[in-house]
Amino acid sequence: MSNYITITDVKKHVGEEVTIGAWVANKSGKGKIAFLQLRDGTAFFQGVAFKPNFIEKFGEEVGTEKFNTIKKLSQESSVYVTGVVKEDERSKFGYELDITDIQVIGSSEDYPITPKEHGTDFLMDNRHLWLRSRKQMAMMRIRNAIIYASYEFFDQNGFVKFDSPILSGNAAENTTELFETDYFGNPAFLSQSGQLYLEAGMMALGRVYDFGPVFRAEKSKTRRHLTEFWMMDAEYPFLTHDQSLDLQEAYVKALIQGVLDRAPEALEILDRDTDLLKKYIAEPFKRVSYDDAIDLLKEHADDEDADYEPIEHGDDFGSPHETWISNYFGVPTFIVNYPASFKAFYMKPVPGNEERVLCADLLAPEGYGEIIGGSERETDYDKLYNKIVENGLDPKDYDWYLDLRKYGTVPHAGFGLGLERMVTFVAGTKHIREAIPFPRMLHRIKP
Ligand code: 4AD
Ligand code: MG
Repeated sequence: MSNYITITDVKKHVGEEVTIGAWVANKSGKGKIAFLQLRDGTAFFQGVAFKPNFIEKFGEEVGTEKFNTIKKLSQESSVYVTGVVKEDERSKFGYELDITDIQVIGSSEDYPITPKEHGTDFLMDNRHLWLRSRKQMAMMRIRNAIIYASYEFFDQNGFVKFDSPILSGNAAENTTELFETDYFGNPAFLSQSGQLYLEAGMMALGRVYDFGPVFRAEKSKTRRHLTEFWMMDAEYPFLTHDQSLDLQEAYVKALIQGVLDRAPEALEILDRDTDLLKKYIAEPFKRVSYDDAIDLLKEHADDEDADYEPIEHGDDFGSPHETWISNYFGVPTFIVNYPASFKAFYMKPVPGNEERVLCADLLAPEGYGEIIGGSERETDYDKLYNKIVENGLDPKDYDWYLDLRKYGTVPHAGFGLGLERMVTFVAGTKHIREAIPFPRMLHRIKP
């Protein structure tokens, strides 16, 4: 076989005979002509086979046999296909392959996912195959671009990657959403966030970040919740809360830009409005206090588009409230200074107001909800100790975390971004389940 290349590389080989390893995504044509829609993960590409050319090259018998092999290829068969790369203005990709030879690698009988419409449950049961479809491949490429941009941003901003453990002896966020496991006769928990460990790393290395799977035994069955998802946590010393928000804003903009730069075809496949994405980069994010947001919701409660429950100061937002707020502003919006009562134990109170904490949730526009949770951390040993007790946690489990306030405590802040929420938002898809290769949800752990 000749020169083996991938589909994205065909532009460098116009006029040459090349061989591509690929899957048959679809097939059409009749009589003496066959069209193959080829897919190799890098792109889609059309190959054309013309029977007389095969007979001319291989003789009547072998030529006919090879041409018939192509005609009989079923969806998702794997092949080595050889041909001459032609520029072709009619094809969306700009190139086409004039097929000169074929070798079947693996057959594929009765592939379950046909080009017709399928229900979500069926597709989810076949997630291992569904990943091959155009839209799902685009989702994974966007995910990849965000991960790449995240590493790049942290590296360029002086952060050190510091890996937090997944098995832990204590809760990072709360005790109601913990997956417990047996650790040689003692209880251990799957990490909800690497934050507490990052705080230790921050005191050794300055700016640190982690990126790994985290787990929440949340019985929520919404389009925003997974039980296993990937989180980027970052932690940094000596920044004020406002500077922390500046950093988060720059980070989210860098992630969106990273997708525009590295996965434009994926955005096109998903029909994403890139003008909106560019607007989120160009315009400053909004910053609103929790109390002002409540006032705004109360003020607009009778508006036509306000399909949320009545809300009072001291109540937590539901998704309809979050959706309405972010749509109102039209750009990503930080809600700052939530009531301490529904936030985690480690947050520092607003000076002079113990009821509110120096925290922010970043709400994405277009109804995507919270993509970042972050805060300034309590630095005082006694106050933190009391918060741990008030939250019904055992200070003995947190002795190491309290030590960080005993030996050279410093002002510090950090945040965590949920990767799949970010992917869903940038991709403009409705449900978070398509943002991760194998989603784990309330009623799903297979495949
Ligand atoms: O707001 P959360 O719970 O914050 C923390 O865990 C902090 N310890 C982070 C930190 O300060 N280092 O979670 C952070 C983000 C949320 O904003 C959301 O994007 C995502 O994680 N998230 C989920 N994503 C999918 N499914 C779920 N069940 C999620 N829960 C949180
Ligand atoms: Mg949160």
